[in-house]
Amino acid sequence: MERFSNMKQVDLVALFNEMTLDEKIGQLVQLTPDFFEQGGEITGPVKEWELDSEQLSRVGSILGTQKASQVYNIQKEYLEQSRLKIPLLFMADIIHGYETIFPIPLAMASSFDEAIIKEAARLSAHEGTNAGIHVTFSPNADYVKDARWGRVMETNGEDPILSAALTRAFIEGYQGTDLAKDKNSLAACVKHFIGYGAAQAGRDYNTVDISDIEMYQNYLPAFKAAIDAGVKLVMTSFNTIQGIPVSGNKRVIQKTLRQDLNFEGVLISDWASIAELVPHGVAKDGYESAELAFDAGVDIDMMSDSYLSHLNLIVNAENLDKLNESVLRVLNLKNALGLFEDPYRGLEKDSLDKKTIDGLRDSTRKIAERSIVLLKNDGILPLKNGQNVGLIGPKATSQDILGAWSWMGQNDKAISLADGLASKSINLSTLDFSENENITDEYIEKAKKLAKELDIVIIAVGEKSDESGEGSSLVNIELSRKQDRLIQEISKINAKTIVIVFSGRPLALSNINEEARAIIQAWFPGSEGGNALANILMGDANPQAKLPMSFPRSVGQLPNTYAQMSTGRPKKNDNKNEKYISQYLDELNTPLYPFGHGLSYSEFTLEHITLSKETMTRAEAITVGADLKNISHIKGSTVVQLYLQDVVAQVTRPMRELKKWSVETVNAKDEKEIEFIITEEDLAYVHSDLTQRADVGEFKLYLGFDSQSAMYIGSIHLTD
Ligand code: NOJ
Repeated sequence: MERFSNMKQVDLVALFNEMTLDEKIGQLVQLTPDFFEQGGEITGPVKEWELDSEQLSRVGSILGTQKASQVYNIQKEYLEQSRLKIPLLFMADIIHGYETIFPIPLAMASSFDEAIIKEAARLSAHEGTNAGIHVTFSPNADYVKDARWGRVMETNGEDPILSAALTRAFIEGYQGTDLAKDKNSLAACVKHFIGYGAAQAGRDYNTVDISDIEMYQNYLPAFKAAIDAGVKLVMTSFNTIQGIPVSGNKRVIQKTLRQDLNFEGVLISDWASIAELVPHGVAKDGYESAELAFDAGVDIDMMSDSYLSHLNLIVNAENLDKLNESVLRVLNLKNALGLFEDPYRGLEKDSLDKKTIDGLRDSTRKIAERSIVLLKNDGILPLKNGQNVGLIGPKATSQDILGAWSWMGQNDKAISLADGLASKSINLSTLDFSENENITDEYIEKAKKLAKELDIVIIAVGEKSDESGEGSSLVNIELSRKQDRLIQEISKINAKTIVIVFSGRPLALSNINEEARAIIQAWFPGSEGGNALANILMGDANPQAKLPMSFPRSVGQLPNTYAQMSTGRPKKNDNKNEKYISQYLDELNTPLYPFGHGLSYSEFTLEHITLSKETMTRAEAITVGADLKNISHIKGSTVVQLYLQDVVAQVTRPMRELKKWSVETVNAKDEKEIEFIITEEDLAYVHSDLTQRADVGEFKLYLGFDSQSAMYIGSIHLTD
């Protein structure tokens, strides 16, 4: 590692040399602002941890401030009190917007579009830096295949290659090209390293047990992409890998992260995850947990007193270099952000003017339109001007549409579906629903009465924001029984029902799939959600988003991914009545809506599909070509997807893996040529020795508009 990578080299070396052991340790500690407020009076958690104000004057970073003035005051007081005046770093969870809230990441991933993610990240950084934040705990690069786990909402979904591309886009958007010069940029912290999404049975913080092949093949690619894109920080996860919690797992940190992925930046623990080595049962007390984490190589201890209280007894002549390395990484980060020149980075910016805020809202609306997935439509949508439309259900007038990681977002500034539809040329009758009420019998009766009189009824249902996200695991991912009943009863009365689902996870929608003539997956669409949905419903925006995570038929299918192995006893269409094959007796193997699925008001076909050749050497490439036709009368966009199967490999490989995709717009009754280039890299996979390489042999290709219906277009062969 370069000792000081940026400007002011001499000053920093001198500064570093002047630091005492305690001052160095302080740089490796991160606390919340409440430790530094209330006029320096020590209260609450400080008392509990027995930290004195001298220790606090050495702490290196703070997480979770809420206002520019708060950052200014803390930094100012800190610099006055601290001996060496090393500025504090301020970090926060800016996950899908700061005050202006974008759709949740899983929703934005439905765009399959790096440009969308990059724009959202850039604009969130702009807002966040105005509040004095330097680092965001984003992106979440967790690989996921279990919708019971509430944190799927903050991921890019179930495909490792798609997630890698979107993770990279997040980092480019947040970090820009020069953190020191660009005061609107944030340093990014990719998380949670590693395996957090594999929490058993989808229960948050639960045990994880994944094989090395699974880890290198599916869990690491998005982290590798982040590191290759220059991400400044990585966060450890709460879970175990091979029985050892990551925050104390030397192998995973030293070998996988530092050596294999070549990460040189700052490694921060997750909230109290060092102290949690004690309840995990791998450390006896705070001293041992600090010892384990330090030895494993965690640089910053987020929100525990492990390092602050014990590291001075743990560091000795033999491991001093290790401490120095960690401190240098933190100082380098501060330097890269330009904090030594400007400890008040971002605070000198004027507060955002109306034009900028309007621009932000405009952007969140457009991004929401690109994130909302049309799951089903028998032609009932888009709505037509002048139609008599009823709007009912708990989400009809709800402003709880921001999603779980929107702590600075204000619900009362969110546009509800009812508000969005109010400006459209339809005759809208809305049945109000007060937030905390349940669906009562009386409500259902009123809704039925309304439904009788109208052309079409929109039923807006789904989760509350806090029903997904951290600590929000579910065993039942269906709509609530009351919501289910509302849909059943209304569709008996009015055959033209459209269901709009707000949720942070794929729900199991089999119960209502038949009844609804159209289903829209709104996710948590953010501040402008209602306007975006209204535009989609009216056809003012043509839906184009695709599912980044399969929607199961039943919770019993989970965990689940489209990238299934064939198994030794594959289920084929023609062995319906066979018993001893890999299947359920009471449900199909397939999801209700597969990965990559999403409808448009346009209709697309792929024709004249060509392969430039059928055989390639390792140095060569094969081009897949096709004409993408829009055979409808409406201009529209779609995502063309290319899947691949390695037919015979040294380890079992999925029957389909997404390798390439392209977001394309085609005018009505028009067509365009599309092209995908396949190289050896696309054919490589992780072998049992954990190296990534391609084997010679046959690879089947599938092209289409989702993971299930993509059609076989031929095979290619790799030769030596
Ligand atoms: C715990 C969460 O797991 C992590 O994602 C988050 O960044 C930290 N808390 C800080 O809020």
